[in-house]
Amino acid sequence: MYLKVSIHSPIHKAFGFLMFAVLATAQTDPGVRAGAPGAGGTIQGLTTNQVKFFTSGQNAFQEVASVSGTVPDTEKGLGPRFNLDSCAGCHKSPAIGGSSPASNPQMSVAPLSQVTPLQVLNIISANGPIREVRFASDGGVHDLFTIMGRPDTPSRPAEFFPSRRQN
Ligand code: HEC
Repeated sequence: MYLKVSIHSPIHKAFGFLMFAVLATAQTDPGVRAGAPGAGGTIQGLTTNQVKFFTSGQNAFQEVASVSGTVPDTEKGLGPRFNLDSCAGCHKSPAIGGSSPASNPQMSVAPLSQVTPLQVLNIISANGPIREVRFASDGGVHDLFTIMGRPDTPSRPAEFFPSRRQN
């Protein structure tokens, strides 16, 4: 059995018009968009209380944590393991709440002794995306770093986190 397909069939005509439309609109790449990000704010139409709720969440999102709160402008509570010291540090581009910034903040948040091996393994890099690890074994996201060696870590961190002390 033969199936005759005519090049004048409606479907071909429609395809031809489509190609024409694609070619007609194929213009030059304008490059990276300039100006304000147009993102990161509230949606329209919120009540006053909803805006307050958004703003308080946004503040918490930008809080920077340190191990014992001794670093200026930080809140106590980082560790014992971590991926970064604030939500907004990773969710930053093009505005707070977004995606990775152009330069990876993970490079300086942990001691070099922890950063360098991950760099050598090509897991993180200065101009690459921020990274977390997800284990196949439990499906969960896990942390890249520990607080060991950070200047704000007490000399006996196990005593600093009594609830996590083993025996
Ligand atoms: C080390 C970087 C990093 C930090 C710090 C971080 N995130 Fe994320 N976040 C990610 C990555 C990477 C993903 C995507 C994970 C995936 O898809 O497996 C993500 C995903 C999310 C999502 C899901 C987004 C979606 O579209 O489904 C939410 C919500 C979120 N993060 C909130 C937070 C909050 C709240 C904090 C702070 C408590 C935080 N993140 C801190 C890197 C980070």
